[in-house]
Amino acid sequence: MSSDQTLLERRYRVLGRNAPLFYERPVHLVKGQGVWLTDADGREYLDVYNNVPHVGHCHPHVVEAIARQAATLNIHTRYLHETVVAYAERLTATFAPGLDSVALTCSGTEANELALRMARYRSGGEGIIVSDFSYHGNSETLAAVTTCFPVPEPFPRFARKVAIPDPWRDRQGRSDEELADQFAAQVEAAVRSLEADGIKVAALLIDTLFANEGLPAPLLGYVAKAAAIVRAAGGLFICDEVQAGFGRTGMMWGHQATGVTPDIVTLGKPMGNGHPIAGVVAPTDLIDSFGLAATYFNTFGGNPVSAAAGMAVLDVLENEQLLENANSVGDYVQQGLDRLADKHAIVGNVRGRGLFFGLELVHDDAGRSPATKETKRVMNLMRENGVLISRIGRHDNILKMRPPMVFARTHADHLLAVLDDALGAL
Ligand SMILES: Cc1ncc(COP(=O)(O)O)c(C=O)c1O
Repeated sequence: MSSDQTLLERRYRVLGRNAPLFYERPVHLVKGQGVWLTDADGREYLDVYNNVPHVGHCHPHVVEAIARQAATLNIHTRYLHETVVAYAERLTATFAPGLDSVALTCSGTEANELALRMARYRSGGEGIIVSDFSYHGNSETLAAVTTCFPVPEPFPRFARKVAIPDPWRDRQGRSDEELADQFAAQVEAAVRSLEADGIKVAALLIDTLFANEGLPAPLLGYVAKAAAIVRAAGGLFICDEVQAGFGRTGMMWGHQATGVTPDIVTLGKPMGNGHPIAGVVAPTDLIDSFGLAATYFNTFGGNPVSAAAGMAVLDVLENEQLLENANSVGDYVQQGLDRLADKHAIVGNVRGRGLFFGLELVHDDAGRSPATKETKRVMNLMRENGVLISRIGRHDNILKMRPPMVFARTHADHLLAVLDDALGAL
């Protein structure tokens, strides 16, 4: 048995057989630097998947900030600390006026759970509306409203799910306005259906990138209409920026492209470059009044080391102009993907925003039926050829590419060449 196989068996024994692993042949990583990962045999992989090491694996500025603070003081969150306050000030300054306070947590799940509690407290309602192919976390409530994979919890009586528009599939001759109206009508119907059960809506909880849904091209007006319907019924719009945030789309926050300022924003994954820090950004009066009613505290959430990591991520985003990089390298990758779509008939649709791309693989038939098997094959072929990507969407037929933000044109050329080969090998 190879040493990787032995490690896999040991993992099965102590972490269980169903603790998820990527790829048919899992990758055993030992080192990361920038956009590169190294496995136990010394083989290098281009990382075109991981958004948690947002400013690059083991970025020296972040490593140094964490190490310095860990060597100075780390303690729970009920003491005064300069870096924690300075980080909260700097972070909230990146949002529209009104979103001016933050509650720091350790994970996206905790952030979304807290956001739901705040929305229910403020609205006096209980109802939650989510998309019909979404994931927002693994707590009891968030697991129950998960719609993109099976969960043992029944879908709750207080929740409703709505379909998200995918202009490439759903347009059928309709204008943006007509399409947005058609899908927003589902939100209206969800609100009315909750009310028919005696439940007032508390929140619409969505990721405005709709990443898990398959990253459909943005439909102008849809999010604004959906949020307006929920607000008119007394609910709040919670925007989950766990995947979209911190410049991924080329704008600091994914919701900025929708023209709507959310009532509450939740943050996570990229926030500490791998250090577990997440948070809820909301109006000061909501955080204050909820805090009074709930005495919310989080032992580790936003401790001094986490705040130092978060601060260092913001430094690197600024110093290395990574939002500009997401826009310029993003455009470059997009053009390359468009060329691959012209060359390989199986590529039905290319979609992307900033440094987040989806390539939908479909069969050449009238219904554009999903090429799920082929998508899995491309993903595994690319892994064998040293490039890590994944797949998303209702049919798992959309290649998902979302590299660390220090992705450069040379990396893009490498990605495109390996992808071209994998598509050619089908
Ligand atoms: C959109 C979105 N929200 C929330 C979460 C949950 O975050 P965490 O795993 O940090 O709890 C995830 C995780 O994949 C996510 O993709």
